[in-house]
Amino acid sequence: MDVEVRVAGSAAEAEKEAAELMARQAELGGHIALSGGSTPRPAYELAARLRPDWSRAEVWFADERCVPPDDERSNYRLVRESLLDRLDRPPAAEHRVRGELSPEDAAEAYDAELQGVVFDLALLGIGPDGHTASLFPNDPALDELRRRALAVDRPDVARVTATIPQLNVSRTVVFLAVGGEKADAVTRAFAAEPGPATPASLVRSESGTTIALLDRASAGRLPN
Ligand code: 6PG
Repeated sequence: MDVEVRVAGSAAEAEKEAAELMARQAELGGHIALSGGSTPRPAYELAARLRPDWSRAEVWFADERCVPPDDERSNYRLVRESLLDRLDRPPAAEHRVRGELSPEDAAEAYDAELQGVVFDLALLGIGPDGHTASLFPNDPALDELRRRALAVDRPDVARVTATIPQLNVSRTVVFLAVGGEKADAVTRAFAAEPGPATPASLVRSESGTTIALLDRASAGRLPN
């Protein structure tokens, strides 16, 4: 369950690698899980340009905020604006988390929808605190063994997240993390003992590939 760490010369190059991996998966078809945050937007825009036909792919979400889909905090909105609206041929299916429902109802519906689904590609980010998807440090959600999606209470807005078992059966897990403010979390995620203080350290493809796409700044504290 090693991680293939790739350090690009710049953030733009790391984003390009992420876009190429998404475009390639869209061409092959399959289940692609996407994340929110500010990092992936340029990668989504480029992926749409590289591969405007996503008709063989189904799009999923690694996590979502419990807000309506047109809310500016919605990951669905981010993905729609930066990727889906720019495609010539849309995905065969868009499986969004129903953020307009209560967190528990949204998580239950998403968990049911995920039954039997293996992500071919899961694109994840890392927060400066080491969170990934909406798996936060030392949160009880990290202990979930059975469900595929869970509601997560947060001080700002509740979330729904894919769980570690759901993410870890992915054929390919790709982390995209750029910028110096991620350097500490990146080191804890990829060069330290895994543990619940750094959820990103617990997410690894069990039988496939895990790739970390970094720039020099986010990789700056990795041991040589
Ligand atoms: C989200 C995420 C989250 C994100 C990290 C990094 O919806 O916010 O899926 O896990 O990937 O918080 O976010 P940034 O790219 O904004 O640093």
